[in-house]
Amino acid sequence: MANSLHSCSSPAVACLGFRTGLLGADSGSEKLSFRSVSFPLKFLETTRRVESHRNMSAVVKAVTGLDQVEVDISLSPRVNSVKPSKTVAITDQATALAQAGIPVIRLAAGEPDFDTPAPIAEAGINAIREGHTRYTPNAGTLEVREAICRKLKEENGISYTPDQILVSNGAKQGILQAVLAVCSPGDEVIIPAPFWVSYPEIARLADATPVILSTKIEENFLLDPKVLESKLTEKSRLLILCSPSNPTGSVYPKKLLEEIAQIVAKHPRLLVLSDEIYERIIYAPATHTSFASLPGMWERTLTVNGFSKAFAMTGWRLGYLAGPKHFVAACGKIQSQSTSGASSISQKAAVAALGMGYAGGEVVAFMVKAFQERRDFLVQSFLELEGVKVSEPQGAFYLFIDFSSYYGSEAEGFGMIENSESLCRYLLDKSQVALVPGDAFGDDSCIRISYATSLTTLQAAFERIKKALIPLKRPAHV
Ligand SMILES: Cc1ncc(COP(=O)(O)O)c(C=O)c1O
Repeated sequence: MANSLHSCSSPAVACLGFRTGLLGADSGSEKLSFRSVSFPLKFLETTRRVESHRNMSAVVKAVTGLDQVEVDISLSPRVNSVKPSKTVAITDQATALAQAGIPVIRLAAGEPDFDTPAPIAEAGINAIREGHTRYTPNAGTLEVREAICRKLKEENGISYTPDQILVSNGAKQGILQAVLAVCSPGDEVIIPAPFWVSYPEIARLADATPVILSTKIEENFLLDPKVLESKLTEKSRLLILCSPSNPTGSVYPKKLLEEIAQIVAKHPRLLVLSDEIYERIIYAPATHTSFASLPGMWERTLTVNGFSKAFAMTGWRLGYLAGPKHFVAACGKIQSQSTSGASSISQKAAVAALGMGYAGGEVVAFMVKAFQERRDFLVQSFLELEGVKVSEPQGAFYLFIDFSSYYGSEAEGFGMIENSESLCRYLLDKSQVALVPGDAFGDDSCIRISYATSLTTLQAAFERIKKALIPLKRPAHV
C-alpha cells in the first residue's frame, strides 16, 4: 500500500490518502481508488526526530484506527532559513480585536484606500466581455509590454524593447525572480535599512546572504555612499535600492544616486535592483530618478515597478521588471516554470492605466494630493509630541517615526515597553491603533504608520496615540 499526501482544507488536520489500486492488466493503465484518512494533529501519538538519509527530520506517528502512519514533516533548509513575518502577530491581534467588536484603527496596511480608478476597472470588465480570458505569452502581451516601454522612455528616460520587459503577478514576483536569477549561494545582497520586509527573506530564499547597511533618521534614512563602498566585496552581487522607500518614504536625490552609481561602477559583479513601485507617489519638490537612466547603469540595473500602489490595483496583481535581455529572459524562464503569464484581464486593465496620461494623469494626481495632505497632518502633529523624531517623507504613504525615547518605560497594567514590538502591542492594547514595529524593517527604534486611510481616521488615530503615550514618559525624559 502506498501512501500519498493530499491537501486538506483544515489547517488543523493532516489528511492522508492511501492508494489501494492495482495495475489494470487489460488497459495497462493504473486503476486507483483513494481512501482519505484525516486525523486531528492533537491526536498524534508521537512526534520524534529521526536521522533520515537527507538530514535530521521530524516524523509524526499517528494511529488512525485502521493504519499506523508515519509522515516526515521536516521542511527544506531553504524555508527554515526564512523568518516568519514579524508583522503577522500584530495583524492577527488587530484582527482578533476587530472581530470582537473593538473599533481598531488599522494603520498597518501597505495598500491605498482608494478604489481602482473607474477607467481601469472598466477596461478589466471589458476584457472579460471581449473574451480576453486566455493564457497570454509568458512575458505578458505585446500590447502591455509596448505600453510599458513607452512609459519607461517618456517618464523615466530609459529605453527598452518589449523583449526586455517581463510582466509578473505583482512586483514582488518580479523581485523574487530577479534575485533567484542572478544570485548564487553565498552571494551577498546589499540592502539599506530600513528595508521593505521581503528583501532579506527573498535573498535567503535564493541561498544568498543579506548584508544590511544602516542609515540614520537624521540623514533622512538615505544610504551613505561611503558606508556602501566600505561594505562591497567580490561576493557582493546585488544592491537593492527602493525609492521612494517603504517604510521611510525617503526619496533618493539624483546627485546621491550618481554618487552611488560611481561606486557601483567599480564592481563588475555588482548589479542593482531598483524598486520603483512608489515612483508616482511623490511630493514636490522631490523628483524621481530611475537608477537605470544614470550613465553606465542600464547594463547592470533591473528596474522593478508595478500597478499596485499608484493605480490602487493591489488585488489585480500586476508588476513588471525591465532590464537587459539576458537577465530578463532568465527571470522569464523561472516564471515559465512557476506561474506563467500574469492575468490576461489585469494586463488589459494595465494598458488602460498606462493610457491615463503622464505619471497617471489627473486620477493619480488626485490620490497623491490626498496622500500629501495626510502626510502633512501627521508630520506636523507628531513633531509637536515630545520625544519623537520624524523625518518628513517625500514619497510613498508611510511615516517611520522614532519612538525609542519611550523604550524603558513602564506602562501600568501592561509592563515594560522594551522595543518597537512591545510599543506597538501597547498602542494596540491601550489605544486600539494597529501599527507595524520598525523591527520588521530592520530598525527597532521606529514604528511605521501607513497613512493610506482618510484624514478623519488619521486624526482620531493621532489623538489616541498621543493619549496612550502620555503616561509612558519616563521621569528622566521629562
Ligand atoms: C517596496 C515594495 N516593493 C514591492 C512591493 C510589491 O508590490 P506588488 O507585489 O503588490 O506589486 C511592495 C508592496 O508592498 C512594496 O512596498
